[in-house]
Amino acid sequence: MSSSSLLRGDLLLQKDASELRLVQVTDTHLTGTANGELLGMNTARSARAVIDAAKNSGAIDCFLVTGDIAANEQPTAYGQLEEMLGSDTPSLWLPGNHDDIRSNSGPFEPHLRRRLRAPCWDVVMLETQVQGEVGGALNAFEIGALAEAIDDAIAEDKYLLVATHHPLRSMASAWLDEQSVRNADEALNMLGPHADRTLMISGHVHQESDAVVSGIRMLTTPSTCVQFAPQSEDFALDDVAPGYRSLRLYADGSVHTEVVRVSDENNRPLIGSSGYH
Ligand SMILES: [Fe+2]
Repeated sequence: MSSSSLLRGDLLLQKDASELRLVQVTDTHLTGTANGELLGMNTARSARAVIDAAKNSGAIDCFLVTGDIAANEQPTAYGQLEEMLGSDTPSLWLPGNHDDIRSNSGPFEPHLRRRLRAPCWDVVMLETQVQGEVGGALNAFEIGALAEAIDDAIAEDKYLLVATHHPLRSMASAWLDEQSVRNADEALNMLGPHADRTLMISGHVHQESDAVVSGIRMLTTPSTCVQFAPQSEDFALDDVAPGYRSLRLYADGSVHTEVVRVSDENNRPLIGSSGYH
């Protein structure tokens, strides 16, 4: 276990309280180069197309990037993502199991803040990456950060969005369920009293889902590159386009969310691919 938290500090958004507009971008698997591929798909080209589509959809208060920024721990992937996102909109990032941002996090500290704090909603970013493992867990720092976020949300009468890389639920997909957060129940028990005022978003599974688990609405979001087939026992790609998730969070706790997919017929993965690590 690491001896300190990667994530620290708050991003304060003192804007009109009626609506918070967020965009989730996840699993970009960037290589730091223009031509890098994952399973035959150019990940920089697809990430740029998805991010550009999100930017062109209207004003965004903050991007939430939920991990696997790099394809294979390439240190240049993070600057590549920062350039794609641009400087007009803040972004908060989480590492995923393919990332190694800890060894060079300095330049990216503004993106590694723990929380976004807005008038009616707080967002807490929780790291689930376990060094050297594909699956996820919440270590003591992350459990502590969650406890603090819950306490603050209750004290300030706010709604809470919890963002993770690995989901805290089963996807009914054997190979992916082996990789979910192994102490998810600990976090879900903590969230229990605030469940109906909590929304959770995750990446890692490269597919769209929307389910209520333990009283909490949990969303997963397509990767900006290759997609995994839902409810598949073993690794399998899905022949659907990449995308992003738009989230509009309102002052009364209501949520409007949709996945927007971006097709590029000239940049598709090799659907027969048999593996991915
Ligand atoms: Fe991924």
